[in-house]
Amino acid sequence: MASLRFFVCFFLLCASSLTLVYSRSPPKNHVALFIFGDSLFDPGNNNYIKTIARANYWPYGETFFKYPTGRFSDGRIIPDFIAEFANLPLIPPYLQPGNHQFTYGINFASAGAGALAESNQGLVIDLKTQLSYFKNVTKLLGQKLGDAEAKTLFSKAVYLINIGANDYMSPFTTNSSVLQSLSREEYVGMVIGNLTDTIKEIYKKGGRKFGLLNLGPLGCAPMMKVFVPGNTGSCFEEATELAKVHNAALSKALLELKIELEGFKYAKHDFNISSSERLNNPEKYGFKEAGIACCGSGPYRGIFSCGGKRGVTEYELCADPSEYLFFDSSHITDKANKQIAELMWRGTPNTTGPYNLEALFEA
Ligand SMILES: *[C@@H]1O[C@H](CO)[C@@H](O)[C@H](O)[C@H]1NC(C)=O
Ligand SMILES: *[C@@H]1O[C@H](CO)[C@@H](O)[C@H](O)[C@H]1NC(C)=O
Ligand SMILES: *[C@@H]1O[C@H](CO)[C@@H](O)[C@H](O)[C@H]1NC(C)=O
Ligand SMILES: *[C@@H]1O[C@H](CO)[C@@H](O)[C@H](O)[C@H]1NC(C)=O
Ligand SMILES: *[C@@H]1O[C@H](CO)[C@@H](O)[C@H](O)[C@H]1NC(C)=O
Repeated sequence: MASLRFFVCFFLLCASSLTLVYSRSPPKNHVALFIFGDSLFDPGNNNYIKTIARANYWPYGETFFKYPTGRFSDGRIIPDFIAEFANLPLIPPYLQPGNHQFTYGINFASAGAGALAESNQGLVIDLKTQLSYFKNVTKLLGQKLGDAEAKTLFSKAVYLINIGANDYMSPFTTNSSVLQSLSREEYVGMVIGNLTDTIKEIYKKGGRKFGLLNLGPLGCAPMMKVFVPGNTGSCFEEATELAKVHNAALSKALLELKIELEGFKYAKHDFNISSSERLNNPEKYGFKEAGIACCGSGPYRGIFSCGGKRGVTEYELCADPSEYLFFDSSHITDKANKQIAELMWRGTPNTTGPYNLEALFEA
């Protein structure tokens, strides 16, 4: 049975990458999608680096792809839905071997990554390295299409970036020491400084249209609730406090970038609002459970053991991930990703603004 499953997976993987690379020619006037960030956006880049921060084994992928792709989800992640809404094929991981044509865009995101090189260092592709990969792509496309056509592609393209959660969780989950010597405001200032530097570098290559999310209440993820002494079920407020400082600084930084960079347009999704609403009122959004993960072990299945390959072999798995907000201890389900992606695509200014992604793709 195991070998049969492997064969099927292998076949599907090949089939899907062949489709992407060879059989489709770009639709006329398509807008490319370039993606940076962490596990919320990583379609499997970490499969190709040496790390334990991986999800390329069962039960990841069980409900949609039917094989584990490396996405930290039972199915799709937000960029998959955005690509679908934009009439693009699935955007593959940059590190996936094969002859990428890049004209639809490419995905550089890496699970566990932060804006700071120190966050989960050695296990992830940090934001700066993701940017260096993007610069490599700009060079290759310049050679392939000519500088003028490449510049047009980069200026029409949409850039999705989701970063920060790991900068604020890793100080608690690892022994990263950068935070200890700084105030919250100084630490957040470094995260935002590295994010705005990245945006400015993409802008220099022609990028104008950016889609971002702020942070949800990080301390309410099952993984972080485990840090509350006595496992009372309440959220771990120290992580959420950092997210609050970050969200205020992010709003301010984006307004400043808009003034500084001519033609800079952005869609910021208020993930704090959308995730808080689902945490507080799961039934309203079709979930039966928002406090416990579908897959994992320990209290709230908050121990990051889903799949049994990160040192802890035992884990529990729910029967129906679509009843859950969280698939594993810190990643939301296919169903939740779809809801968030829809809000990013067509949300009104109270959830996504000043543009939504649909408007950015048309702009
Ligand atoms: C940059 O592109 C070249 C040519 O495809 C490739 O050989 C090289 O590995 C790339 N480097 C990085 C860091 O992606
Ligand atoms: C942090 O360091 C201490 C002492 O070296 C060690 O006992 C502990 O396991 C470490 N924690 C993590 C999460 O790495
Ligand atoms: C970016 O992060 C590094 C630490 O990784 C920090 O030393 C640097 O000051 C940050 N850059 C900005 C502009 O804040
Ligand atoms: C989320 O939004 C609520 C309501 O506006 C606010 O009280 C809270 O501080 C926000 N939390 C974060 C992490 O931004
Ligand atoms: C945002 O506004 C729409 C109508 O414009 C409304 O249906 C929705 O409930 C609002 N969402 C929030 C989070 O306030």
